[in-house]
Amino acid sequence: MKVVGFNGSARKNGNTACSLNTVFAELEKAGIETEMIHVGKEKIRGCIACHGCVKNQNQACSFEDDPVNEWIRKMKQADGILLGSPVHFSGVAGTMKSFLDRAFFVATVNGGLYRHKVGAAVAAVRRSGGISTVDTLNHYISYSEMIMPSSNYWNVAYGLHPGEMEQDGEGKQIMEILGRNMAWIMKVIGHGKEAFPAPEPAAKIMTNFIR
Ligand SMILES: Cc1cc2nc3c(=O)[nH]c(=O)nc-3n(C[C@H](O)[C@H](O)[C@H](O)COP(=O)(O)O)c2cc1C
Repeated sequence: MKVVGFNGSARKNGNTACSLNTVFAELEKAGIETEMIHVGKEKIRGCIACHGCVKNQNQACSFEDDPVNEWIRKMKQADGILLGSPVHFSGVAGTMKSFLDRAFFVATVNGGLYRHKVGAAVAAVRRSGGISTVDTLNHYISYSEMIMPSSNYWNVAYGLHPGEMEQDGEGKQIMEILGRNMAWIMKVIGHGKEAFPAPEPAAKIMTNFIR
């Protein structure tokens, strides 16, 4: 079993990375393989609503000059997905959001590539905006029919300078419990899905509120 994690920060050793690594440590203790992908310093364009991914049905974004399609493939192959972002202006960091908009739109319009995978999100923040950032990240997971484990509080860790979240005892525990719950639910699903086959996917009903 494998979890792929995305660090939305440009800092490879920043507080988002530390938070993800804390979750990873628990997953690894449970025998689950992990891979971290650093998103924050990449040049990632936003979605331009060209709908090429709808038309082509090739599980890919029309932009081929950045790593988004490779990351879509990695998420498709993984059993679990972990999203992490630093809080920038009380929201998800821009590069991370550009990646997620494209990767999750492609997945949705190509038959639900992440359907029934286990997914969770974390945020790192100096002071304010952690909840709104985690909520935004959770929107990608809950839109995709993924299964979301939780912790004993919302998945936010505090710190300004790289590594400061290590001093946030409560934040560390939140990440540890999240990692243990994520490992457990992945194993339960892994063992149970033969005995209890997943529901059939449904054709999407789109009701657009145009007056
Ligand atoms: C552009 C930018 C915007 C930020 N906006 C906020 C904010 O709205 N609220 C806050 O508490 N901290 C804010 N911060 C601080 C970061 O959230 C904080 O340093 C966090 O630990 C960064 O995570 P990282 O080390 O993974 O990059 C901001 C930092 C930057 C660079």
